[in-house]
Amino acid sequence: MSQKEQNQQWLEQHLERVEAFLAQQMPSSQLPLQLHEAMRYAVLGGGKRVRAALVYAAGEAVSQNGELSSAQAKALDHAAAAVELIHAYSLVHDDLPCMDDDELRRGRPTVHVKYDEATAMLVGDALQPLAFELLASMPVAPALVVQAVAALATAAGSRGMVGGQAIDCASVDKALSLDELRHMHRLKTGAMLEVSVLLGGIVAGASSTARQHLMDYAQTIGLAFQVADDVLDVVADTATLGKTAGKDAADNKPTYVSIMGLEASQQLLLELKQQAHKAILPLGAGAQSLAALANFIVDRNH
Ligand code: IPE
Ligand code: IPE
Ligand code: MG
Ligand code: MG
Ligand code: MG
Repeated sequence: MSQKEQNQQWLEQHLERVEAFLAQQMPSSQLPLQLHEAMRYAVLGGGKRVRAALVYAAGEAVSQNGELSSAQAKALDHAAAAVELIHAYSLVHDDLPCMDDDELRRGRPTVHVKYDEATAMLVGDALQPLAFELLASMPVAPALVVQAVAALATAAGSRGMVGGQAIDCASVDKALSLDELRHMHRLKTGAMLEVSVLLGGIVAGASSTARQHLMDYAQTIGLAFQVADDVLDVVADTATLGKTAGKDAADNKPTYVSIMGLEASQQLLLELKQQAHKAILPLGAGAQSLAALANFIVDRNH
């Protein structure tokens, strides 16, 4: 099997793994029925699961001789599901009429369109604590659980994703400087990708040196992810994206494309990909899946 086929197989296996775990952990046939149904609708059966894949790949990259104990593997399932729950909640709220006002997500009607706005708000409210419940029940040393909870709380909060969303909302019709734009992207998208990598490292017991390499990698792919999202908004079509194409320009949002132009944004993506590969060189062959994910994040078509 070629390296490319191996990477593809690894990704498929881990996507199936987190999908199954999420399906098992999400409440169903329990009251309130509609809320639980809407939570499942928001989380299951869609999404690239890049954040989950980063959790697993980072865990593998720093494990002892590539071996994870069964408890560590289980804890990675919890952490992978936790980041996907926070991410799914952020999308449900991002799509609300008071934010980006989007009707299509993952190729289906958004949660507030399929249900209603109050349900969409409550879905987000409920997914968030469920993520922390999953981290709290990870079968690893309590000190590592505490580190993981603190890391995810910071990344998801006003100094991370929510802070970035606030800047995004306040930036409509404004021309941001490149520094301001980078800062917004690092918060609204980078923070959750970075913490995905960090959680993998925490669960697998990464040394402080290994954690530093992971974080160098995570910062570059975190920024790259949103630059690619901005580029795809311009170059991809709605059917491929599963969300409305051309939405950023229509809403007059500052993006890498609106500020740097398309070609410079695509060039930056290639540079960020190289930087990500360089950052994980010291981690050796165990970081193969992280390397493949850097390629996936930059080269993806949706
Ligand atoms: C979209 O994230 C929102 C951003 C942070 C750019 P993804 O592109 O990871 O969305 P899904 O999970 O695959 O639907
Ligand atoms: C969203 O950024 C980032 C989040 C934290 C959800 P976008 O608004 O660009 O994401 P899409 O394009 O709607 O997926
Ligand atoms: Mg948005
Ligand atoms: Mg949006
Ligand atoms: Mg976007």
